[in-house]
Amino acid sequence: MKVTVIGAGNVGATVADVIAQREAANEVVVVDIKENFAEGKALDIWQTAPIRMSDTRVKGVTNDYAATANSDIIVITSGLPRKPGMSRDDLISTNANIVKSVTEQAVKYSPNAIIIIVSNPLDVMTYAAFLAAKLPRTKVFGMAGILDTARYRAFLASELDVSPKDIQALLMGGHGDTMVPLPRYTTVAGIPVTQLISKEKLDAIVERTKTGGGEIVKLLGTSAWYAPGEAAAQMVEAIAKDQKRIFPVCAMLDGEYGLHGIAVGVPVKLGKNGIEQIIEIEMNAEERAMLDASAKAVKEVMNVLDNMNLF
Ligand code: NAI
Ligand code: 2OP
Repeated sequence: MKVTVIGAGNVGATVADVIAQREAANEVVVVDIKENFAEGKALDIWQTAPIRMSDTRVKGVTNDYAATANSDIIVITSGLPRKPGMSRDDLISTNANIVKSVTEQAVKYSPNAIIIIVSNPLDVMTYAAFLAAKLPRTKVFGMAGILDTARYRAFLASELDVSPKDIQALLMGGHGDTMVPLPRYTTVAGIPVTQLISKEKLDAIVERTKTGGGEIVKLLGTSAWYAPGEAAAQMVEAIAKDQKRIFPVCAMLDGEYGLHGIAVGVPVKLGKNGIEQIIEIEMNAEERAMLDASAKAVKEVMNVLDNMNLF
């Protein structure tokens, strides 16, 4: 199993580090455009191997796509992160060009790879990579739902003073303030969360989750990387080990949930073939209205990309 991580910045380096720590692949190649940057990050990660007892080979290269040849999985993290005051959508023009260029170069050398997008604005960059890669939609998808659900689960674990391990939850929609956390699909060791927390507190947690990325940007001056890196690596592991895990993933929809040609977060089964199933859950009228509003918000930014005439 060979994995390429494009972008050796905060998120990319963390993805490579977590893959190595979990031995989720035999080989990780990290690529960055900044001279020697990926080489340095990869060397540091590789030097953890004897301490953490990992066999995963980690190597860094500057813009050398030949070194990524025959990758099974490609994770795209290259692009600008948010600064305070910016929305994810503000990143579109710079990051669309970067995502298009790196996807085309990577696919040239790894035509059978599965591609996971992390760059923002996530849903629209997933659409951009799908257009650039010219691969089936089961092989090009984005990471956001695992991160957003993790934030929701972490806030619930703090509020209820229980282990985050016992909180199961689902969140759908776009990776923006219109995301749709689903309390009806949230349990604590199988107990519906609504039996353990007041509506007022749950509503406050849902709202905090929606702006969870921005909360970190305000604190740090740039966006998060530990949880995003862990989340993308978890997707890599599910594919590399054919685990058939069920995760919320940003997928190109083709009729599921009545939506067509739009990239949005939905529950999927991830295995060695990429997205092996898109699961259509039952939604009540309120949940459905929130999903539609989120899809509409994503579609507006997809239209901005279409109007850039890059594809
Ligand atoms: P960063 O600035 O630390 O790293 C980005 C790296 O991309 C830099 O090292 C840069 O040199 C590299 N890069 C730029 N253009 C390139 C190119 N053409 N080829 C190869 N490398 C190139 O940023 P960070 O924090 O790692 O974030 C990366 C992206 O991920 C941002 O767009 C950010 O908004 C997004 N993100 C998405 C999340 C999600 O949930 N989907 C969560 C966190 C971040
Ligand atoms: C996050 O949610 C900014 O997308 C990034 O942390």
